[in-house]
Amino acid sequence: MALRGTISRRLRNMHNASRLLVRILSWFRLSQALLGGHRYYSQFEHQYCPEDFRACGEGTVICKGVCFLSTNRVTIGKCAYIAPGCYIHAGGGFHLGDYSGLGAGTTIITIEHHHAGAESIPFGELRLVKPVYIEDYVWVGANVSILPGVRVGEGAILGLGSVVSRDVPAMAIVMGNPAQVIGHRNQKAFEQLKAQGAARSPAERSDKLWIPPLTRRKYAAILKEFGFDEQDYVAYKRGPGHD
Ligand SMILES: CC(C)(COP(=O)(O)OP(=O)(O)OC[C@H]1O[C@@H](n2cnc3c(N)ncnc32)[C@H](O)[C@@H]1OP(=O)(O)O)[C@@H](O)C(=O)NCCC(=O)NCCS
Repeated sequence: MALRGTISRRLRNMHNASRLLVRILSWFRLSQALLGGHRYYSQFEHQYCPEDFRACGEGTVICKGVCFLSTNRVTIGKCAYIAPGCYIHAGGGFHLGDYSGLGAGTTIITIEHHHAGAESIPFGELRLVKPVYIEDYVWVGANVSILPGVRVGEGAILGLGSVVSRDVPAMAIVMGNPAQVIGHRNQKAFEQLKAQGAARSPAERSDKLWIPPLTRRKYAAILKEFGFDEQDYVAYKRGPGHD
């Protein structure tokens, strides 16, 4: 009996101690957020809202699982999109333009340590301010890394996994490490769509699917296994794109 009482007392004490610890930790985190020059939240902890940033336009969507440092140096346009898992160190300033989207897992760094001629190792006290500026209608694929100081021109496309160390000209399609220009958008078509106001938020859900001819040939025997039946196939065939 006495033994059971002792055990339950100890369990209660442990429970109270762990609750106190959780409270101290959350107070510490809150005070850091309020007092610190920048705000840091662990990846899955915080859902950002427009007020968190220096500026953020209407219709912009920032997914849960995005991590920003220095939100006070971030400006985002309207109808932009930031997919889960992006890590944006905005200490040097970061801009994402209207209708531009960052694919999942993209990393953007805007501040650099000083090392050449520095007074200490592995780097000095100075931090170099190098903003990243992404103009309007830019499509950044998944897992792209953008180095400090890079400017991405209007309408550019950054292929999946690119490591972008130099400025990207408007309309350019880049890919690789280091990213190279491998082509350009059709500027005339782009300007026409822009003039018509045919812009679409990268966050907007697309319900139309189309199965390209190469996929049809390559996966002819397997498409059904993924739930694409004959009827769907016809429907998709008549969807957007060219056969
Ligand atoms: C950049 C991109 C749009 C180009 O698409 P595309 O114009 O249809 O180009 P293709 O698929 O015909 O590829 C052209 C060539 O580049 C290569 N390539 C394509 N994407 C590449 C990439 N991200 N990195 C390196 N090489 C790539 C292809 O292998 C092909 O090479 P080849 O000519 O030697 O065969 C596309 O490749 C891409 O990266 N999309 C992003 C996907 C993504 O991240 N989606 C989720 C977030 S929205």
